[in-house]
Amino acid sequence: MGTMDETTDRVVDGLVDRGWVVVDAFLNDEEARALAAESLQAWESGDFRQAGVGRGAEKVVRDDIRRDHVLWLEDDAAGPATKLYLSRLDELRTAINRALFLGLFEYEGHFAVYPPGAYYKAHLDRHRGTSERVVTAILYLNEGWVPEDGGRLKIWTEAGKQDGPFEHVEPRLGTLVVFLAGDFWHEVEEARKTRMSVTGWFRVRGA
Ligand code: OGA
Ligand code: MN
Repeated sequence: MGTMDETTDRVVDGLVDRGWVVVDAFLNDEEARALAAESLQAWESGDFRQAGVGRGAEKVVRDDIRRDHVLWLEDDAAGPATKLYLSRLDELRTAINRALFLGLFEYEGHFAVYPPGAYYKAHLDRHRGTSERVVTAILYLNEGWVPEDGGRLKIWTEAGKQDGPFEHVEPRLGTLVVFLAGDFWHEVEEARKTRMSVTGWFRVRGA
């Protein structure tokens, strides 16, 4: 397990070299467990909503496309583990800007829960006709996840292509995936166990 700086460097290097990257132990087990507990508590309180597709007035629930449930993070309401994660992401945002001059300005993110049977079909993370979401960052919160639990992330590794070579990522506790939001097609394969994560985007200022 490396220091924060080494981990941040590996994320930045991966983005520079390939546009996508996976790192283990972005949060250590203790930090990630605490974050999972905050997500679980909110889930059990019924604070999540079924996720929609599209945005604004065009947003609709389409359970043929995605079946996850989400709770948007808010600085004020955040517990200590969430606050720690947000501060780590802000360090990462600054490091990405230094290396890539992307002008990333802010972060928006949500907890996600995929109940058994849930998936999210292949997509890009940019709403049609928008460009504010530049970099996607997903942190997984599942301790003891095994391949039989399904729920892998499948990411196509050639920018812009929804076919060709791909990689799978197991949603294990503390693993972070980062990629250019408008470039890499990806999907969540069906989960057989409740699957938890934090998904978010570094954004540029809206036009
Ligand atoms: C998303 C998404 C992937 C994952 O929420 O847009 O693609 O592995 N999530 O949770
Ligand atoms: Mn996505």
